[in-house]
Amino acid sequence: MLVLGIETSCDETAAAVVARDAAGTGRILSNVVLSQFDSHALYGGVVPEIAARAHTECLDVLIRKALEEAGVALGDLSAVAASTGPGLIGGLIVGATSGKALALATGIPFLAINHLEAHALTAGLTDGIRPPYLMLLVSGGHTQLLWVEGIGRYRRLATTIDDALGEAFDKTAKLLGLPMPGGPAVERAAMNGNPRRFNLPRPMLGREDPHFSFAGLKTAVRHAAAKIAPLSDQDVADLCASFQAAVSDSVADRVRLAIRSVLPLSPEGAPRNFVAAGGVAANKTLRTTLIGIAGEFGFAFRAPPLELCTDNGAMIAWAGAERLTAGLVDGLDAPVKPRWPLDPAAAKAAGAGVKA
Ligand code: KG4
Ligand code: ZN
Repeated sequence: MLVLGIETSCDETAAAVVARDAAGTGRILSNVVLSQFDSHALYGGVVPEIAARAHTECLDVLIRKALEEAGVALGDLSAVAASTGPGLIGGLIVGATSGKALALATGIPFLAINHLEAHALTAGLTDGIRPPYLMLLVSGGHTQLLWVEGIGRYRRLATTIDDALGEAFDKTAKLLGLPMPGGPAVERAAMNGNPRRFNLPRPMLGREDPHFSFAGLKTAVRHAAAKIAPLSDQDVADLCASFQAAVSDSVADRVRLAIRSVLPLSPEGAPRNFVAAGGVAANKTLRTTLIGIAGEFGFAFRAPPLELCTDNGAMIAWAGAERLTAGLVDGLDAPVKPRWPLDPAAAKAAGAGVKA
């Protein structure tokens, strides 16, 4: 089975070809990603209209490149998969329409992929991990703990009541004058910093519900920075290191709670896996923390390689291959969905500005 995957939900234009054999093993034949950082840098954040136009300008070239690198012709494909939500509607329309047009022209099935499901299933492609498993999804738009029961079956255990973790990294970077994307910039600066210099709050620590909150932490960084302005490079490094330490402590507390809640759901004797995905899962301080917690509870920690943690086409193609195998094909009238929670039944988290 050969699936072309198209990703255009935010500020990365991506296309990839993934093969899945009869045993369910995946192989990435090509994975082409073009980031739009430069197009948005001037504005300090992703501008939806600029993003949509940039996708339109380069998607056809990227798809051709992905097919060429894979050594695959359009006629060899089994299906075309495109992320159709959640995300910025303009970009989603570009990717979905391109995918549908290719599917129509070649007479193969179209697969409408939930971008979050694609992140959630990546561990199957990279590590051969099969559900059930616990998943921490930490990206620019989402911060969720999920119990992955199977394809299309997710139990959302926790979400953020305000900012996503990647958003908190990006806003912290911006207020400290660091370049976009903020996460890697904060991580780089933190390498030379003292994580104990600033005593920042540990949001939600000890709370009984496992939800996240990062808006207050970001504001605390702003106040700490204002107190000692103008900032030296060392001040910025110490603020970044202290921010990362607070994030790690907060996430660790939330993850421990979630692991305790899924212990009874893990079948006796079955492998216990804890998977992290999304751009922030690339953060080494966070990874080290998560490996430690997984170990505490006898869970194996898995995180896709860095280039598959951030948005890419291979994860879309793989989710497509998994869904095609399960017979879950979509029509050419499949809508794009800017909001598309993986677990529509999940109760709303109490708090202001709740995200799905
Ligand atoms: O999954 P992703 O590529 O895109 C979506 O948001 O769906 O995640 C991007 C986010 C950005 O907020 C970026 O700053 C953050 O992931 N990020 C990181 C790191 N690399 C990317 N945050 C912390 N440390 C990193 N090394
Ligand atoms: Zn993503």
